Amino acid sequence: MNILIIGSGGREHVLAWKVKKSPLIEKLYCAPGNAGISEIAECVDIEANDIEGLVKFAKKNKINLTIVGPEAPLVDGIVDRFEKEKLMVFGPSQAAARLEGSKVFAKEFMQRCNIPTAQFRAFEDPSKAREFIQKAHFPLVIKADGLAAGKGVIVCKDIKEADAAISRIMEEKVFKEAGEKIIIEECLVGEEVSILAISDGENYVILQPSQDHKRIFDDDLGPNTGGMGAYCPTPLLDEVSLKKIEARVIEPAIRGMRREGMPFKGVLYAGLMMTEEGPMTLEFNVRFGDPESQVVLPRLKNDLVELMFASCEERLNDIQLIWDKRACVTVVMSSGGYPGEYESGKEIKGLDQFKKDENTIIFHAGTKSEGDKVVTAGGRVLAMTCFGKTMEKAIEDVYKKIEKIKFERCFFRRDIGAKALIIGHRSQAAGHR
Ligand code: AMP
Ligand code: GLY
Repeated sequence: MNILIIGSGGREHVLAWKVKKSPLIEKLYCAPGNAGISEIAECVDIEANDIEGLVKFAKKNKINLTIVGPEAPLVDGIVDRFEKEKLMVFGPSQAAARLEGSKVFAKEFMQRCNIPTAQFRAFEDPSKAREFIQKAHFPLVIKADGLAAGKGVIVCKDIKEADAAISRIMEEKVFKEAGEKIIIEECLVGEEVSILAISDGENYVILQPSQDHKRIFDDDLGPNTGGMGAYCPTPLLDEVSLKKIEARVIEPAIRGMRREGMPFKGVLYAGLMMTEEGPMTLEFNVRFGDPESQVVLPRLKNDLVELMFASCEERLNDIQLIWDKRACVTVVMSSGGYPGEYESGKEIKGLDQFKKDENTIIFHAGTKSEGDKVVTAGGRVLAMTCFGKTMEKAIEDVYKKIEKIKFERCFFRRDIGAKALIIGHRSQAAGHR
């Protein structure tokens, strides 16, 4: 089979790495890809949002399955466009992708389906939003309705910050039309967990939960990023709480989308906050998480291509997932300055030394080839990923090896996975009592 992956980040590299293991595959393409992906797939110079260019490529190259990595083309309707041409494509329709494309749609949907989420109000008029914050409790969270590359959520500790957030989103329009509407919601406290489910519109399989690290600095300080590291499995959820989340969040979402005439096919990503009142849904995304996929997919033993075909062909009901018992952790190496301004074009040294190491995979995100060099080309540059017999070993290993990869002004968090050890020890202690 000929397979095309769309996108150019760490998520697309792990997708290519996993797809490449499938015996079903003949030729793998990635548009546009990056330096790491080009070692295992043929990269083609078409941007992820050039839907017509991608359709043309898929037809000409007899692509049997297209896998869409990022959210923007999904929200723009790439799946509908491919299906119109009778091309097989893994991902949700434009209507279903609104679960990520509009936070107002997602929150109102959750309300209709009784899916636990923070209390909220939606506003189209900044003066009404300002009126509301006069009497609100702080802290609260203000969110742009549309896609904002992970930057559209602002936690406000007082009325001054909330007022500034309303101005920035609705009047200065820093996120353009994504900020025509906003959500104002209660601020939740707790640990965050990411759950990815693959659905065929009716049936679904739930991948093992993982934990991302959204903030740029250690101890979850500083601004939000796309994600600075992740680990899987996580001691935050046991079998019982995962079942509860399935019954309260995943199942009602899949059932609700079907009932409302937009069956959800593809990856449903639920971002959850484990609060004292139980798990609350922060958001839905309609694609694999990044960097969550870099720790979840390496542990999945099933053939991903088969799972994706089963999703497209609506036959996920008879699939059982099988997992590697080892722990997996990934640490994102970013360009100094990210998530603010940063420089690109720095040579990356040391990439070849782990190629034969079975416990280590370096997934590329913002990288590109320049002659025989690999240089930085984005905020998040690499995701250094290690397996370990235990989480402790995986973490020890990843931090030993990461020191051997070098580029100018490289930055990474030093505490990825530390929470897994603390929570793990705590629940072990509780078990002994
Ligand atoms: P979202 O794009 O809605 O997931 O928001 C991005 C990040 O903002 C989340 O991963 C959380 O860290 C934070 N966040 C979102 N909603 C809330 C909330 N209601 N309370 C506290 N933090 C939140
Ligand atoms: N790691 C967060 C996301 O993929 O949205």
